[in-house]
Amino acid sequence: MILDYLTEKQAFNAWALISVVLFALYYRWPGRKLDHIPAVGYQSHILSYIGAFEFLFNAQKMVQRGYDQYRNGIFKIPNLDRWRVVVTGKDAIEMVRKTPEDILSFQDAVNESLQVPFTLGPNIKDDLYHVPIVRNQLTRNLPVLLPAVREEIIAAFSDVLRLKDNEWSNFKAMDTMMPIVCRASNRIFVGAPLCRDPDYMDINIKFTITVAKASAMLNLVPALLRPFVNRFLTSVPADIDRCIKHLEPIIEERRKNMEEYGKDYPGKPVRMLENDMLSWLMDEAKGDETSSRNLTLRILTVNFAAIHTSTMTFCHALFHLAEHPEYIKPMREEIEEIVALMMDRFARQPVTFPDGTYIPKGTHLTVAAHALHTDDAAYEDPHTFDPFRFADRTKQEYSGRKGDMISTNTEFIAFGHGRHACPGRFFAANELKLMLAHLVMTYDVKLEGNAERPPNMWFILSCIPNPKAEILLRKRVD
Ligand code: HEM
Ligand SMILES: *[C@@H]1O[C@H](CO)[C@@H](O)[C@H](O)[C@H]1NC(C)=O
Ligand SMILES: *[C@@H]1O[C@H](CO)[C@@H](O)[C@H](O)[C@H]1NC(C)=O
Repeated sequence: MILDYLTEKQAFNAWALISVVLFALYYRWPGRKLDHIPAVGYQSHILSYIGAFEFLFNAQKMVQRGYDQYRNGIFKIPNLDRWRVVVTGKDAIEMVRKTPEDILSFQDAVNESLQVPFTLGPNIKDDLYHVPIVRNQLTRNLPVLLPAVREEIIAAFSDVLRLKDNEWSNFKAMDTMMPIVCRASNRIFVGAPLCRDPDYMDINIKFTITVAKASAMLNLVPALLRPFVNRFLTSVPADIDRCIKHLEPIIEERRKNMEEYGKDYPGKPVRMLENDMLSWLMDEAKGDETSSRNLTLRILTVNFAAIHTSTMTFCHALFHLAEHPEYIKPMREEIEEIVALMMDRFARQPVTFPDGTYIPKGTHLTVAAHALHTDDAAYEDPHTFDPFRFADRTKQEYSGRKGDMISTNTEFIAFGHGRHACPGRFFAANELKLMLAHLVMTYDVKLEGNAERPPNMWFILSCIPNPKAEILLRKRVD
């Protein structure tokens, strides 16, 4: 440590200098414009930095505190570089849903929380043509494509787990399930056999983890330092280099076919094999986006959107199930699960919420999703794992479409709500149910020593299933 070579006084000065520089870099203008919104913790600007540090380690508890204190209201939480405004209550969520993009922008919020220009490169956000493809082509083709996904899931579980006889074996749940999700999803993104190529899977998984980690780190770093810090976090061009090796031959072959047979040549022989995300992207891409490099980056981006979300959701369900193996028998019939994510918006224009709260331009808004999903006003006994909570349609409160995994509403925002609600949720719901059904029908699952569900890991506002925790699996015995 360089400080070891300094005298005590020099060391003190060095620390003082570092602190001043850090403070100056993080210093946010007092933000008087948000003075009328009550804060969690200290309202005073200077003291709020104490809360900003607490936020790094205790974000979810701070949101819950605000949620309990300002029920159905709007409050703010200090972050190092800005205040984050948290919205709760049905009317306000409805307002976030229906306010148009040019006032409360979803894209700017994603740009910020994912730090898109650094993590996915500068061009992705200018042209989001993959989003309607995920919503339309992918969803429309599910009935045709799901049998192949199911086949891939069955093969992936068997290849990854390699269980012998009927003995229990240990698996790190997150590390085990991520390749299975990757392989199953890519059956529909790029088709077989590429979806099971170890190097192709590895690059997509690494990319997913890199984007998730780098965006979280970059959000903690003052804006001025981000370009510098990012050099140690991401390398989008190198990731494309590695992935394009696998995709370019396929892209070129398909292009050749397209030239030979025309785009919609009826009865085109290869057509059935080419009904996947890559082909839809190739059909829709315009101008610069048609290059193999840009198509490759798009495939990596869709993988990022699909893999970490689906894996986390699956592992949340899996840990519940492993903690309560008594449910496996009845659940061999049906299961559903939800997670905590966000529905962020960035105010491009000032707006006033139904309760009268004025939100100035430039404010970052978050909906308190986890607090909402564990609110006993919305869900009976919300902290108890009840796998049949939504299955029992005789229960008035979850009847009709409200209990569907894919229907968003003001009490269920795991996929967001409104125009920007996750376009991949129809695919995700089908894929996850296929995975869980296969797991439950084929394997027995439990936790070592019948322990309690391993505690979730909270990173800022993400509720991550314990990344180190293991589950025990064996081939089903009864
Ligand atoms: C359980 C799994 C998933 C969860 C929990 C999830 C959740 C979300 C959420 C919360 C949003 C933002 C919505 C908002 O803030 O209003 C979102 C957006 C998005 N998701 Fe998902 N997602 C999942 C799976 C997938 C899959 C499998 C795909 C692709 C096949 C996908 C593609 C996307 C895309 C492209 C967007 C951006 C939408 C836009 O720009 O308008 N997601 N997702
Ligand atoms: C997107 O975020 C970057 C910082 O990561 C910022 O420089 C840029 O201005 C943002 N763009 C928009 C449209 O918000
Ligand atoms: C990828 O697309 C962007 C515009 O979206 C363009 O500026 C860039 O040159 C393209 N890259 C390649 C390798 O074609």
